[in-house]
Amino acid sequence: MTVPRPDDPADDDHLVFAGELPGDEVDGSLRPKSLGEFVGQARVREQLELVLTGAKMRGAVPDHVLLAGPPGLGKTSLAMIIAAELGSSLRLTSGPALERAGDLAAMLSNLVEGDVLFIDEIHRMARPAEEMLYLAMEDFRVDVIVGKGPGATSIPLEIAPFTLVGATTRSGQLTSPLRDRFGFTAHMEFYEPADLRQIISRSAGILGVDLRPDGAIEIARRSRGTPRIANRLLRRVRDFAQVRADGAITLETAREALAVYDVDELGLDRLDRAVLSVLCRSFGGGPVGLTTLAVAVGEEPSTVEEVCEPFLVRVGMLARTRNGRVATAAAWDHLGMTPPDGAPGGQSLLFTTPPEE
Ligand SMILES: Nc1ncnc2c1ncn2[C@@H]1O[C@H](COP(=O)(O)OP(=O)(O)OP(=O)(O)O)[C@@H](O)[C@H]1O
Ligand SMILES: [Mg+2]
Repeated sequence: MTVPRPDDPADDDHLVFAGELPGDEVDGSLRPKSLGEFVGQARVREQLELVLTGAKMRGAVPDHVLLAGPPGLGKTSLAMIIAAELGSSLRLTSGPALERAGDLAAMLSNLVEGDVLFIDEIHRMARPAEEMLYLAMEDFRVDVIVGKGPGATSIPLEIAPFTLVGATTRSGQLTSPLRDRFGFTAHMEFYEPADLRQIISRSAGILGVDLRPDGAIEIARRSRGTPRIANRLLRRVRDFAQVRADGAITLETAREALAVYDVDELGLDRLDRAVLSVLCRSFGGGPVGLTTLAVAVGEEPSTVEEVCEPFLVRVGMLARTRNGRVATAAAWDHLGMTPPDGAPGGQSLLFTTPPEE
């Protein structure tokens, strides 16, 4: 589980905790089940297909795979698909659940040859577990320490060859020894509206919703490039269409419904707009530090950083510079404001500082 959007605590398609999938049958069924059903991310799909097919042809377990990208882009879905494509079982856990190395040792020693071990939020794993994982990934072995103090001995334990699939929204936080042990890293990108439209249409089919083409385009356009948000908006618009209209999702009902849910023309929601607004109104467009910005909008820095910023950067409204966050001309424009003289989004000052990453 990564950071849930604050306005949607019941975000039901997250992994809840180790080994458990959400009880929401309906949402579960919206997950693509094979690479063929997985829409978009053509590059990642092609790369992954080669990794999996190559391994299958050799009769070996595929290299370890790291899935990196913002929340809701399909990392968990891809992990499940990898296991399904290989005909293997998927064992699920998450970084925060692996607090002690013993937790990981138990998990690893129970693996059967060819299993896929999925560690969600792998960047949040505790150090001792991470160090144990190095050896397991490289040599399919763990060293279990028995006893304490000078009498402690280390017993090597063989584990069955397996494929680790790690997911992270913060690949930059992974230590390099861990990152280096993955044979393939899939960088997930935000989706194009055309892909989102296809995803929404598929979901509408599964949910039995009467979704008209212009309604689908409108929802896709405002989904922040994110399938999870697309599916969520589809459900909210469906409610509106059923309660306030005749059930059909047209351009008109989509627009009215999205206005009720505070999703603006570009798909920015309340928190996105709060961040931009604070940045421009209270800090003259920046630069301002992440923590200050987060406090000002009443959110955790990690939520602002992992949930809001990737999209705001992608649409060119926010820049992360060495000195802090800066609003761009597009941000001022979106808020319908004129940047004051000398503000970062105003004159040619923009982007004189190179981005942080
Ligand atoms: N390529 C896709 N095609 C169709 N549906 C998708 C695709 N990617 C994601 N989805 C839908 O979006 C939802 C969220 O995807 P998923 O849980 O895999 O994202 P995630 O990257 O693991 O997110 P998080 O980082 O928050 O864990 C899924 O339930 C699925 O219905
Ligand atoms: Mg996930």
